Parts: sequence; structure tokens; C-alpha cells
Amino acid sequence: MTATAPRPAAAPTPAAPHLREDLLTPRFYSTQIERAARTDLDAQRQAFDAMLGEMEADYNRDHFDRRAPLDRLRHLSPQEKEAYESYLVRSCVSEFSGFLLFKELSRRLQQAGRAELSRLFALMARDEARHAGFLNRALVAEGITIDLPALSGKRPITWFPLSWVLYSVYLSEKIGYWRYILIDRHLKANPSSNFAPLFDFFEPWCQDENRHGDIFNMLIRCWPGLTTGLRANILSRFFLWSVFLTHSLTVCERGEFYRLLGMEPAAFDADVMRHTNDTARRAFPRVFRLDAGYLRLRDQIVETFRSLKRATGFQKLRLRLRFAGLLWRQFTQPMEPGRVNSIV
Ligand SMILES: [Fe+2]
Ligand SMILES: [Fe+2]
Repeated sequence: MTATAPRPAAAPTPAAPHLREDLLTPRFYSTQIERAARTDLDAQRQAFDAMLGEMEADYNRDHFDRRAPLDRLRHLSPQEKEAYESYLVRSCVSEFSGFLLFKELSRRLQQAGRAELSRLFALMARDEARHAGFLNRALVAEGITIDLPALSGKRPITWFPLSWVLYSVYLSEKIGYWRYILIDRHLKANPSSNFAPLFDFFEPWCQDENRHGDIFNMLIRCWPGLTTGLRANILSRFFLWSVFLTHSLTVCERGEFYRLLGMEPAAFDADVMRHTNDTARRAFPRVFRLDAGYLRLRDQIVETFRSLKRATGFQKLRLRLRFAGLLWRQFTQPMEPGRVNSIV
């Protein structure tokens, strides 16, 4: 089952080293759509209607103005431009990946006779298409063209069970919200660091991601086994840990972009994790106790990841073992109860 049929020809994709895909580049996903079609909305009917109403209202209809100029960049050196461009590519692919998943879910839910659910996913796909389109315009302003449909045909599609998709998309929407809003707040407090007009659009943009996250929270609640019991505890631990780990490696490894904005990458990463972890209390039965111990391990993991990239031979093996040990220690860090089961 794939979100999109493979396409034979790939149009030009970015080839410069800083634009190439790797381990940390966003991927494309698909899931158990027949199972999604069995979602029982009865218990969540009120929340569902309210969210569908909000999505139909389309508060950001006029926000993503296609005529807004996106080419004001202040005195960036070639290295700084690289950092900005690689941020744009990753964000654009990530938004487009969300669009593809939601669009495919919408299409298949329509076929399965779930018109309301299909509509909700179509409206989320609408938002993600706008986000990807906007980032794509910023890339075009930089003279970079990515053929997104061709790119999605070229990359393997990762298949996840529905429960994994609900947990991971919920988290990626909420972490996306916190990333956009924290950058926005920082730039409002430090306007001299606002070097690209793209950032002026982040505030209403992040509200889209917040709404999507709330929709996924509601969908998680439609499946009682996903908010209580051992399986829900394991899902909470695994997805919080893996989403935070990917974030830490991306932000700390590619810190140049954040320094360009006048932010300290490790502090930004920690802020985003803390807020996202707190927000997840409303959706997951357990969240991490994100204390100094967790962050100390984060620093060691990033450091080892960096050394691994330079290492060879026996040293590489030793660092791999150390890396695996650190990951396990971080994965097993203490957790505390969320509030999902105490909120009506
Ligand atoms: Fe988005
Ligand atoms: Fe989103």
C-alpha cells in the first residue's frame, strides 16, 4: 500500500551537497487505511464537529498570499545561504510528505464511505499543500527547483500501522507548532535577526499545525486501547523518544541555521522538547521527565554522532557501541503520567 504510485521519471532535484537527502531527511508514509475507515467517532462526535467546523472556516485562507515577495535576504554569506536553503528543503519535503499522507487518506476514506472523515483529511491536506507551496516559493526565490511529486515517486514509502501514524503525526504536528511559534517569538523579540520574509508568516502558520495536532489527539481518543494500558505506554515512550532524538540530531547537527537566527541550537532544541512534552500530556498516558539527565544524554548523543561521522576502523566500532548504549539509556529515562485520562 503506498501513498502515491511510483513515477518513472524524476525531474531535476537539488544536487548541491547541502540539499541532498540523508538519514535525517523527512520521509514519506502510508498506513492501514481500511483500519482508519473503521474509526468510531461516536464518543468524540462533539469534538469532531467542532474541529471540522474550524477547518471549514479556513482562518488562514488569505494568509499564504501567493504574491507576497519572498526574496528579501540580508547580506547572507554563501555558507549562511546554504544553511537557510537546506532548512527550506527539509521543511518543504516534510510539509509535502504530510500533504501526500492526508490526501491519500482522504481519497481512500471517501471510497470507504466515510465522507466526513475524508473531508477532514482533505482540509488538512489543503493546509499542508499551502505550507509546502510557500516553502517551495522561497526555494524558487533562491534559484532552487524541487519537483516534489517526482521526489515522492523516487523515495521509498515507509509503512506504519495506524496506531503509529496517529502517535507520530500527532507529535510531528505539535513539535512543528512549537518550532514555528518559538522561532516567531524569538524574531519578534529580536527583529534584527529576521533575515528572510518567510519568517513573517510563521504565526498563523503554526496555528494550522496546532489544529492538526488537536485533530490527531481526537482521533487517538477514538481508539480506547491507544490511551491506556501497556501498549499505549510503550507507544508514548517510543514516539516521544524517537521524535525528540531526530529533532536533537537535526537541530544540533545543523545548528548553523539557528545561529543565523541568533538562537543557540541546543537551547532551542531543549525548549521545543519541553513544550512538546508538556503538550503531549493532553494526548499520551505517559510523557518523559525532561530533566537535566535527559538533556545531558542528549548532549552526549549529539557529540558521539558527530565523532562517528569522522571515525574509521576500530574507533568507529567503539563509537557505535557507545552510541547504542547512550540511545538505550535515553530511551529508558523515567517517565511520568500524562493527563489524557483525566481530561474529558
Ligand atoms: Fe504544515
Ligand atoms: Fe500540519
